[in-house]
Amino acid sequence: MIPLIDLARRYAAHATELDAAIARALRSGRWLLGAELDALESELAAWSGYAHAVGVASGTDALIFALRASGIGPGDEVLVPAFTAVPTVAAVCTTGAVPVPVDVDVATAAIDPEAARAACTAATRAVIPVHLYGRPCDVEPLRALGLVVIEDAAQAHGALERGTSRAVATSFYPTKNLGGIGDGGAVLTDDAALASEIRLLRHHGMRELYVHERVATNSRMSEVEAAVLRVGLAHLPAWNERRRAIARRYRDAAPGLAWHADHPRHVHHLCVLRTPDRASFAARLPAATGVHYPLAVTQQPAYRRFARAACPRAEAWAAQCLTLPCFPELRDAEVDRLCEALG
Ligand SMILES: Cc1ncc(COP(=O)(O)O)c(C=O)c1O
Repeated sequence: MIPLIDLARRYAAHATELDAAIARALRSGRWLLGAELDALESELAAWSGYAHAVGVASGTDALIFALRASGIGPGDEVLVPAFTAVPTVAAVCTTGAVPVPVDVDVATAAIDPEAARAACTAATRAVIPVHLYGRPCDVEPLRALGLVVIEDAAQAHGALERGTSRAVATSFYPTKNLGGIGDGGAVLTDDAALASEIRLLRHHGMRELYVHERVATNSRMSEVEAAVLRVGLAHLPAWNERRRAIARRYRDAAPGLAWHADHPRHVHHLCVLRTPDRASFAARLPAATGVHYPLAVTQQPAYRRFARAACPRAEAWAAQCLTLPCFPELRDAEVDRLCEALG
């Protein structure tokens, strides 16, 4: 059976570099908030084009802090796509604001700007477009709404052009295009005050040791994680190119299938198609497959109470989506076998 993902192959392919990076971080004797995180933050800023990158303990925290540092909290409403990884929505709830699920586009699964406009009320303060599956969604039409825009780029490392959003939040969960060996995340922004506030929020509200300027929490990325991510950042362009090549092979082998809409900068974090008979379609493949995600936000037991308008397109994505293996270490022979089965 071809695996959906295999991180042991990632380690095997880069063991020497990874071992050296991990040893360097450990030998430094400073295991949190040290030189590796400083270097990663500089490298992420240079790579993304944003002036500041702030590393935190997860992608969810990156979203929470970007929202909080933008002044969003109780009494506010935040528009989110009704079809996304649930942490996008959970982050809004954690701030005390109310998430408002908005229906998505039938081809891209991205938040629909017209539906977003219709969902705005006097309490709406922000919108979180999600670059789902690694496809950059068009943020421009959302800017016209006059809201704070915080992009969720957890699945889209390398897909985005430098934008003008207040902040971009990302995740380094191990399976992401840029994944670490544990949890991690970052906020990218041009706003120095926002970056500085997030540095406070991730470290018990302290700038000076034991002087707590904010009621905050601990969300520090470890030095070992930062060192591993620096190795990954150097390989990211090649990894993304390999993902693109695999996704192209599948699409060329089976052009009649209902593929997730392509885009020149799509980085294929997940290679997704839609099929009404998902279970039987998957059963015919020589590969493990995934479902990202089986329920829309409006159908999730913990979140459906936030539903306002009907979101039929989000629910159709949830009913029909199927994820194929698409990771850089997938072997050519495995891609060939899958193409044969798809064709
Ligand atoms: C779109 C999206 N947003 C947010 C997150 C949350 O990231 P993390 O798992 O690092 O907290 C994820 C990953 O799970 C995600 O895919």
